Amino acid sequence: MDDLRDKYLGQIRDAADEGALEAVRLAAVGKKGEVALKMRELGRMTPEERQVAGPALNALKDEINSAIAARKAGLEDAALDERLRAEWLDVSLPTRARRQGTIHPVSQVTEEVTAIFADMGFAVAEGPQVEDDWYNFDALNIPGHHPARAEMDTFYMARQPGDNRPPHVLRTHTSPVQIRSMQATGAPTRMICPGRVYRADYDQTHTPMFHQVEGMAIDRDISMANLKWCLEEFCRAFFEVDGIELRFRASHFPFTEPSAEVDIRCSWEGGTLKLGEGDDWMEILGSGMMHPKVLQAGGIDPDEWQGFAFGMGIDRIAMLKYGIPDLRAFFDSDLRWLKHYGFGTLQVPTRHAG
Ligand code: PHE
Repeated sequence: MDDLRDKYLGQIRDAADEGALEAVRLAAVGKKGEVALKMRELGRMTPEERQVAGPALNALKDEINSAIAARKAGLEDAALDERLRAEWLDVSLPTRARRQGTIHPVSQVTEEVTAIFADMGFAVAEGPQVEDDWYNFDALNIPGHHPARAEMDTFYMARQPGDNRPPHVLRTHTSPVQIRSMQATGAPTRMICPGRVYRADYDQTHTPMFHQVEGMAIDRDISMANLKWCLEEFCRAFFEVDGIELRFRASHFPFTEPSAEVDIRCSWEGGTLKLGEGDDWMEILGSGMMHPKVLQAGGIDPDEWQGFAFGMGIDRIAMLKYGIPDLRAFFDSDLRWLKHYGFGTLQVPTRHAG
């Protein structure tokens, strides 16, 4: 009996895992285990011997069972300890904020621009980004061989082989929406159209996709003076900086006559962009009086109506207003950049707030 106890208690102590422990249990106290075989021998004993051996065997069985239970609990604890070590987790890490993003400066500025022009009676229009060649060029007095087509670095859509119509283009400016809006509303009319435009160009101030806002006002007695007032009024309201300085430069666009480009005084010193100071000028828009052929293409009689139009770079004015030096970072989707330059949902445009 003592030999049996020593043997099995030793094996139980040495069992390395629950599988080994189960094997020991079957060999010792299972139905065909050694203790059961000994119990069967009780039948061949004298009653006196049985009175001693019976309780002793039962006690041995209990002792082995409880040693197995204790060892099993020990193995489970060890397994848990091992898991806790392996699946280590740093609970001191900061939690993940539920909202990662911010409002992109382009969205914020689009809202601001829209609010200011809405105050001046301009409605918001839209047009397709994959545009018909006619709307993007011909209707704007840019015929097939015109050098302006090459200058625009246009992206052309693919055509099926054998289809000889001019390919669609990714609109190179928001000006095609002038035509679409004239067709939709007739005269008089006032609209702005913010949206994406595309040109094959890439450096610190150019990206292949960027944003413009088109503006157009058509009425009976509209002149260059109205255009100038409107743009100056806009810049004062938008930039909210004393001493904003604009420069109207004579220029040329096929769809306006006369034409002017507008630059704003700024400085790039030390990699930061500042407004209203310095010796640099940043071009922010092109503008002019709408060409009679353009009014005609939109179905409006140029003998009865005149209009002015402008196209302004939204990203450009966002860079200027918020001091963002590199345009390319606008479209990198870098969360660190967005956290730095982005806006919260409650930072409503100044005009809306007022
Ligand atoms: N479409 C011109 C551009 O993209 C800007 C412009 C719009 C100029 C309207 C004059 C009038 O450069």
